[in-house]
Amino acid sequence: MEVKAFRWKGDCLLLLDQRRLPQEEVWLELRDHLEVAEAIKNMSVRGAPAIGCVAAYGFVLGIKKKTPPKAVFETLKNTRPTAYNLFWALERMMRALEEGKDSEEEALSIEREDYEANRRMGELGSELIPEGAKILTHCNTGALATAGWGTALGVVRSAHYGGKGISVWVDETRPYLQGARLTAWELLKEGIPHRVITDSTAGFLMRRGEVDLVIVGADRITARGDVANKIGTYALSVLAKEHGIPFYVVAPSSTFDLSILSGRDIPIEERGEEELKNCLGVSIAPEGSPALHVAFDVTPAENITAIITERGIIKPVNEENVRRCLS
Ligand code: MRU
Repeated sequence: MEVKAFRWKGDCLLLLDQRRLPQEEVWLELRDHLEVAEAIKNMSVRGAPAIGCVAAYGFVLGIKKKTPPKAVFETLKNTRPTAYNLFWALERMMRALEEGKDSEEEALSIEREDYEANRRMGELGSELIPEGAKILTHCNTGALATAGWGTALGVVRSAHYGGKGISVWVDETRPYLQGARLTAWELLKEGIPHRVITDSTAGFLMRRGEVDLVIVGADRITARGDVANKIGTYALSVLAKEHGIPFYVVAPSSTFDLSILSGRDIPIEERGEEELKNCLGVSIAPEGSPALHVAFDVTPAENITAIITERGIIKPVNEENVRRCLS
C-alpha cells in the first residue's frame, strides 16, 4: 500500500509520527489546530508540501472549534518559517473562508491537487532520467513529505516504475537524518535499489563517476529561481557543477514565492542546538560546546540545470522562465 504521511478523518487528523521512523509506525490523532501546530514545529510531520496540507486541515479543526480564524491562521503560520507551502495553504484557506467556501472541501482540494502535481512532475521529470542512471538525492522528498508520491523522490519512483533501471544514493542528511531514516524507508518498502551514504561521500562518488545526476526538492523558490532546501543542498550543487553533473530541483507551483526575487531574502530557519548535538537520543558533542543548527540553505539559480514543476520544466532557470511557467 502507498505510503501516507497523514489521513483526514473528518473530526481529527491522523499523522504518521516521522520522528519515530523507521523503528516504529505510530499514528498521532490530532484534534485541534494547537496540536497540529505543535506537530509541525516538532517535526512529527515535515517536508514543505506535507506541512501545507496538514496546516490546511489544522485550520479546519481550529475553526470547527470556534477559534477565531485569524488566531488559527497566526498559530499555524508561526511554526516553521522557510517552507512556503505553509503560507500558501493558510492564505488559500483564509481566502476560501472569506469567500464563503466550505473549508473542509478546500483542504481536501489542497491535498488532492498536491498529489496530482506530484504525479505530473513524476511523468515530466522521468523523461530527463537516463536508462540505468545513478541518482543522488538529499533529505526526504517522498510520499512522507507530500500528499503522496513525492517531488524529487516522485521522479525517482516514476523512473523506477517506468522501467529505467535506476539506483539511488541516499544522503543521510545530518542532523535530522531524513535521508537515512525516511527516504531509505520509502525506497526499501518499494524495492527501489538504493544505498545510504554520509553527506560527505557525495564528492568522492562524483569524482569516481558514480553519480549521473542530483535531484532534490525545495522549500521555497524565488522569482529568479533561487532555491531554499535542506542544509547541504547548496554544497551538492557546487559539487555537481564542478563535476559537470545535472542538478535538478522538483517542486510544485505552491512552493514558489514570487514576491521575493533573490534567495538572500528567504527566511532561513535555525533550530535548537540539541537536535544537532544529540543523535537518536545519544549525546555526540561536549555539553559545553555551542553549535549552529541552520536547517536550510539557498542554491542560486545559476547552479540549477532545470526546475521541474507540474506546469512544465523551467530551463534555463531565470526570472523570465520562472514567471512564464507559473503565469
Ligand atoms: O526540515 P524538513 O525535513 O521539513 O525539510 C524538508 C526538505 O528540505 C525537503 O527537501 C523539501 O521540503 C521538499 S519536500 C517535497
